[in-house]
Amino acid sequence: MPRKIGILTGGGDCPGLNPAIRGAVIQALDLGYECWGLEEGWKGLIEGNARKLTLSDVEGIVGQGGTILGTSRTNPFKKEKGVEKALESLKSLGLYSLIAMGGEDTLGVAQRLYAEHQVKVVGVPKTMDNDLSATDYTFGFDTATTIAVDAAEKLIDTGKSHRRVMVLEVMGREAGWVALFTGMAAGADYIAIPEKPFDETEMLEQIKVAYQRKKHALVVVSEALKFPKSASNGNVIPEKDDFGHTLLKEQGTGDTVAKMIEKGTGIETRAAVIGHIQRGGKPTLFDRMLATRVGMKSAQMTHAGQFGRMAAMRGSEIIDVSLKEAAGTLKKVSKDWIIAAQTLCAKRETVSR
Ligand code: F6P
Repeated sequence: MPRKIGILTGGGDCPGLNPAIRGAVIQALDLGYECWGLEEGWKGLIEGNARKLTLSDVEGIVGQGGTILGTSRTNPFKKEKGVEKALESLKSLGLYSLIAMGGEDTLGVAQRLYAEHQVKVVGVPKTMDNDLSATDYTFGFDTATTIAVDAAEKLIDTGKSHRRVMVLEVMGREAGWVALFTGMAAGADYIAIPEKPFDETEMLEQIKVAYQRKKHALVVVSEALKFPKSASNGNVIPEKDDFGHTLLKEQGTGDTVAKMIEKGTGIETRAAVIGHIQRGGKPTLFDRMLATRVGMKSAQMTHAGQFGRMAAMRGSEIIDVSLKEAAGTLKKVSKDWIIAAQTLCAKRETVSR
């Protein structure tokens, strides 16, 4: 009887999950395992909801966005008897081990199940936020940011025509990678990310200079930007998910920044929020290849008995790292990146020193 591997995708979806599932399944079948897909992340394990994954289930999905398994932000450690039920399902489904694909939350659960309940689990990193510290890149980020760059360039076109300042708000949660890469790659005139304390005066000055030069300007902002109290919408009581993260959907960051700019410069300003559009569509080549490779690696790691570990990208290699390291501190934008972005945005002619 072949050993059964349970595969799940948890947290926010992103392009690359399907190629990762495909890579894991094809490699696992080749190594003599049977694969079972758990529906909607940890929820599927709690409810014992799984289906067998055959070659025909995964053969045509490499270019598809989303996840064929569905996903959720369910945390078994926060549900009544969640962990108990998850452990029972492992037994009743006859699963030898798990491959958990997700970000810090999903992988944090995987780590705890491994450390506290000796569940044989291997992690696969995914998130459009690119904020996992144990891997150089997470799949989903390249596609999401490519979509955001495209949106930014479209905003530049219309901003140029109307002589306006355009503000683009992107996702990324507490990490500014999506905004940073979008702004740098699209030629923004100002980038605001959570890692750098928001400086309204600096932003307004920089926009005025850019506008004077070319009669339009682009600002890219992260959804999770923190404003001084007076500027933010203090009436909204933030909703939280199972993992304690504030849902940022009602924060209105882009709008707040646009209003500040219009008020502070007198220039007509518009804001656009691309939100979940960043999470859909075909994965880019980079994401397909990264997802395929970490997916395959997770099946190889299962075969080698490397549990409590996660497949990760370091340089151009796919290696294994401990889940503890992976689910630990978040990877935030460093000072060097902030300085590089600021230099590009400020775009000064030669200055005498
Ligand atoms: O973590 C991925 C992410 O896309 C964040 O960038 C964003 O804040 C969040 O998920 C949105 O979550 P939801 O899909 O639950 O609205």
